[in-house]
Amino acid sequence: MTKRIGILTSGGDCAGLNAVISSVVMAASQKGWEVYGIHNGTDGITETPHSYEVLTVHNFSDSPWPRLSGSYLGSLNKGVKMESLETMSQKFAQGVKDLGLDAIVVVGGDGSMNIVSNYCKGLDVHVVGIPKTIDNDTPITEFSVGFQTAVQVCTKAVDDLYLTARSHNRAIIMEVMGRDAGHLAMHSALAGAADVCLVPEIPYTIDGIINKLKEVKASGRNNAIIVVSEGIKNEKGEHVSNKKNLVGEAVYGGISQYLTDEISARYNEFQIRSTTLGHIQRSGTPVAFDRLLAYVYGAKAVELLDKGVNRHMVIWKAGHVESVSFDDVVKEGTTKLDTNSDYVKAARALGMYIGECK
Ligand code: F6P
Repeated sequence: MTKRIGILTSGGDCAGLNAVISSVVMAASQKGWEVYGIHNGTDGITETPHSYEVLTVHNFSDSPWPRLSGSYLGSLNKGVKMESLETMSQKFAQGVKDLGLDAIVVVGGDGSMNIVSNYCKGLDVHVVGIPKTIDNDTPITEFSVGFQTAVQVCTKAVDDLYLTARSHNRAIIMEVMGRDAGHLAMHSALAGAADVCLVPEIPYTIDGIINKLKEVKASGRNNAIIVVSEGIKNEKGEHVSNKKNLVGEAVYGGISQYLTDEISARYNEFQIRSTTLGHIQRSGTPVAFDRLLAYVYGAKAVELLDKGVNRHMVIWKAGHVESVSFDDVVKEGTTKLDTNSDYVKAARALGMYIGECK
């Protein structure tokens, strides 16, 4: 039976999304299915006129898109829609009917999977999810598309900052994204051999950071790199930013400046500077592993739809691609950095200050 499937990207963008889209289009075309590329996340379905384009192999087979970051289709970030779940579900159901979709591939984090799976309850449409986020906090899967490229971007930034820190005898604090999970901070701090890495999962003290800086000085080195996750709190246990998005979620940012001020007030043997990497972490040429994940996830998503699987997300587990139900994904919640992981052990073995585990 000819199927018509929709594909959409949802949530913050990241490198590798276009390779995912390309993979789904190629695999679906081989089965003779039609693919509708939905613009701007679920907006392309819920808003009228609906916004989409028919995608074929010609869009991707001789195109730079699979090699580029960003989302060819556009993405919808949370915090911009205020309508109730009931209203959105009705609009979504009407859109799915108008477009004649048999199935939808959602490329997003656990939040997006949850939203679309709620919209689809009771509808005669199958949904399969593909995890993507630079935060790498999508549950159950070991890797989400986009994470490895973000680690690469952050590691390069550590290398670059080291050179200027060395020229000026400075300590530089680099703030990375990741929300409440420290994966991005820990992976890039380790790859860049930073001196300090602070993550939301492990408490720290300003004195602990200063002691590490003293140790660096005593060793004869005049520069230091401190990587901090945007989601860490100040010494009072509060986030330094009190900004919220339209749905009331905290918007992070500013911890590196707070730490710069606090450390400088108590210790002056290093000049401290802070750098916030920002959205550059969501871009950059997708690294090979993100493209590889994108291609295997896309192919697997089409295979699952072909087998009639519904409400499942593809995952990477010990070198294999499998799938788990949306219910399990939602039940599990976001995945934090395991404080007993080999990454954390290696950071300690390198002598990095990573806070004090209780
Ligand atoms: O979830 C991905 C992410 O990049 C987080 O690491 C970051 O906190 C957030 O999105 C930023 O979102 P926005 O694009 O709304 O600034």
